[in-house]
Amino acid sequence: MTVTPSYVPPKSTQPKPEVPKWVPPEPTKEDIDWAKLRTIELSLLDSPDPAVVQKLVETTKAAIKEDGFLYLTNYGVSLEDLHRQFDLAQYMHANISPEDKEKLLWDPSKGTFAGWKPRHGWKREAGKYDGIEQFNFYEPQFKDYDLLPKCILPFMDEVTSFCNYLTTVVNRRLLTLLSRVLEMPDDTLWDTVQSRNGPVGDGYFRHALFYPLDSDQRVQRKDVRMYGHCDYGTTTMLFSVPVTALQIWSSKDNKWRYVKYNPGSLVINLGETLEVISGGHFRATLHKVAQPPEDQAGCERLSIVLFNASKADMRLQPFTHSPLIQREGFMMSSGVFREYKRLLDAGAPVPTNKEWREAQVSTRVQVAPEEKSGGVKYINGVKYGEDTFHGVKVLMPV
Ligand SMILES: [Fe+2]
Repeated sequence: MTVTPSYVPPKSTQPKPEVPKWVPPEPTKEDIDWAKLRTIELSLLDSPDPAVVQKLVETTKAAIKEDGFLYLTNYGVSLEDLHRQFDLAQYMHANISPEDKEKLLWDPSKGTFAGWKPRHGWKREAGKYDGIEQFNFYEPQFKDYDLLPKCILPFMDEVTSFCNYLTTVVNRRLLTLLSRVLEMPDDTLWDTVQSRNGPVGDGYFRHALFYPLDSDQRVQRKDVRMYGHCDYGTTTMLFSVPVTALQIWSSKDNKWRYVKYNPGSLVINLGETLEVISGGHFRATLHKVAQPPEDQAGCERLSIVLFNASKADMRLQPFTHSPLIQREGFMMSSGVFREYKRLLDAGAPVPTNKEWREAQVSTRVQVAPEEKSGGVKYINGVKYGEDTFHGVKVLMPV
């Protein structure tokens, strides 16, 4: 058994500007009812002991079926190399020029988040203040440096190699584990579902900075920084950060719970693509970004994320040849899979993955539940907002 090589940052041949160190804020000291997530130690996939690997697959299966979120540790990036990426994200936010903010302004109506997001809403035109700034790196940004803030150019070798490692090593190995849960060959999901062009495929890498809200802004936003949603892609890789704000929805007791800071770990959640492919065995879990606990209310929250996407032209359907699905059938409790299945059973076309994600980015993302096209619905006493895209109904709890 070979051992997977760890991430090695590129050796720079050019002198680079000095980059101040990111100082992680103090973790919260408040007593919080945390989400209980399982931990997957990815290096164990290389274990020569088949029993160790089998246990890892079983833990992964339980995590994705029951929680939809997991911590990934020992995935090959040292804390030092990871913190360097936070240094760079902090540097980008501190140094992007007003001209670049204007020139690189994003336009979600085109179906992607590429470029610069200012602190006013989720459209190109300024909307309500949300205090969230981002730069989103899609495939074109890695090819044409004219689409990037000038301040990040000296460091693109590091950003590119980091994304390459995350996609071609970490995500590929994660997909191996998920393929094994489906009881299929190791590269099944990597070969057939994952988009793989360039460092981010059809997905994207995000540098985000959440500025603290003052008391009026908190009231206005009802302490929600990003509304509840599921991700549409394959896997989302969020680097665990000290400022507590990510919450996940537990459908067992209809509660939102914070995800605890776990230094150096990746917080992984699965997107709707994998929910459909797996016939509902994998869950695209609802999550949101909430106001941090009071002892962190004044902290800036720096966040870096890699969103992995499925192949653009593919129309999803469950892998009915998976031995897991053949033995256990479909899991019909899941939202998007149930809707896709309804369309497939009726012989109606489901959207391509590109159509699906572009519809969500251009119209739905970060719309308050009350403003969604289908309005608000109550199911078993829980309030949901409803939307429909390409004939697929989507319900999100408020
Ligand atoms: Fe998300």
